[in-house]
Parts: sequence; structure tokens; C-alpha cells
Amino acid sequence: MSSNIFFHAGTVTCEERTKLLKQTGATIWFTGLSGSGKSTIAMALEQVLIQRGHLAYTLDGDNVRLGLNAGPKILAETRGYSEEVSKRFGLGFAAADREENVRRIGEVAKLFADAGLFALTSFISPYRKDRDAARKAHEQNKTGAIPFIEVYVNTPIATCQTRDPKGLYKQARAAVEAGKGMGFTGVDDPYEPPANPELTFDATSQATEQGVALVLKYLEEKGLLK
Ligand code: ADX
Repeated sequence: MSSNIFFHAGTVTCEERTKLLKQTGATIWFTGLSGSGKSTIAMALEQVLIQRGHLAYTLDGDNVRLGLNAGPKILAETRGYSEEVSKRFGLGFAAADREENVRRIGEVAKLFADAGLFALTSFISPYRKDRDAARKAHEQNKTGAIPFIEVYVNTPIATCQTRDPKGLYKQARAAVEAGKGMGFTGVDDPYEPPANPELTFDATSQATEQGVALVLKYLEEKGLLK
């Protein structure tokens, strides 16, 4: 129980931030398999938003796993954290680690969006309940609900495997064949597709620009790109 903790509201209002930045913040949450094209669309979208004068920032799975959500080895060896902190708070890919990864990102994205930015997140985020919890954090934001736009990057696993940009599918298949397994999403760890995503994009049949256009259209329709 986190007792004796009380929310302390500042005096800056959402309206003041909106006036300053000429936009209202939102989180655009890309989910999909490794190699599905999440980061490519997120970063292309970030570029277009910035070019149009909107403050946007991409939180990318691999990048965040080198910092905020780094594994124990990185924390201990390159940052000098204690063994206890590195072991307790460093993240890997077990179910609980992924849950915590997505929880932290959900909270960070919420803070960015509350500050008025477009927070673009690009994580496999394979478990439905974890994405739903991130959505809930946005809905329950203390200073008012924040838009949470879930974009399912629905690229078939066959395409992701053919691309295999980091050679990890190959590695995971070999591990399974050797009877060890690797707990790799889509191979021997589950991916649960969103039941009701705001948007769906298939990077096999659609170009990155179409994905960007899809999200921009949605933001415009919702009045988020004034
Ligand atoms: S998540 O499941 O916790 O949301 P996240 O998006 O942060 O994953 O990181 C996924 C990236 O980590 C993949 O694109 C891949 O490069 C790498 N990775 C390393 N091991 C695994 C694994 N066991 N399962 C999935 N991705 C992995």
C-alpha cells in the first residue's frame, strides 16, 4: 500500500500548455511483433509531426532498453549501480519483465503527453492486459484523461521472419530446435493482438507513408492537430 501519498496539483493548467505548444498531448502506442515496422512508422510520424510544428518524441523499445529499462548487466557494468538495484530493477524478457517494461513506458508516455507532447511508443508490448493497464493510466490521469491511441502494426510473422533485421528469429528457431527455447515473441512466447485498436496497419501491403497518413488523419479527425 502506498499510504500517505497525495496528489499535488500544480497551478499550470492543461489550457496554458495547449496555448504554449499549440497542441494537446496524446500517446500513440504502436504494438506488434519484432520486425513488424513499428519503429519505422513511429519515427517517420515523429519527423512529419515535427516538420508540421508539433512537438513529438518517440520512445523506442530497443533504445529504452539501453537506458530506463536496461538489463542488469548494463546497469551494473556501464552505470555502476549496485548489484542489488541492477538485479531487482534491471529488465529482461520474462513475462514479469515485459509487464514492468510496458508499465514504465505507459507511465512515461503519460507524463510526456501530460506535458503536451505527442508521445510515440514503439514496443512489442505483447500482452493485452499490460497495454490495457497503460490505457487505464491515461484514462485515470489526475489532471484529466489523456488520449491513448493504440496502433496495431499487424504485419504477418512470415514477413517479420523474412526481414529478421537483427537475426533474432533465426536465433530463436535454432534455440527451439535445440530444445532450449529463447522465449522470443511469436516463436516461443505469445503475442496477443489488440481486440479493439484505434488503428491497424499492415506493413506488408502498405508503405510507411500510408501508416503515417493513417495516424495523421485520425489525429486530425479527433481535433488533436489544430
Ligand atoms: S516487450 O515485449 O517488452 O514489449 P520490447 O519492445 O521492449 O519488448 O523489446 C523488443 C526488442 O528486444 C525486439 O525487437 C528484439 O530486438 C529484442 N529482443 C531480445 N530478446 C527478445 C525476446 N526474447 N523477445 C522479443 N524481443 C526480444
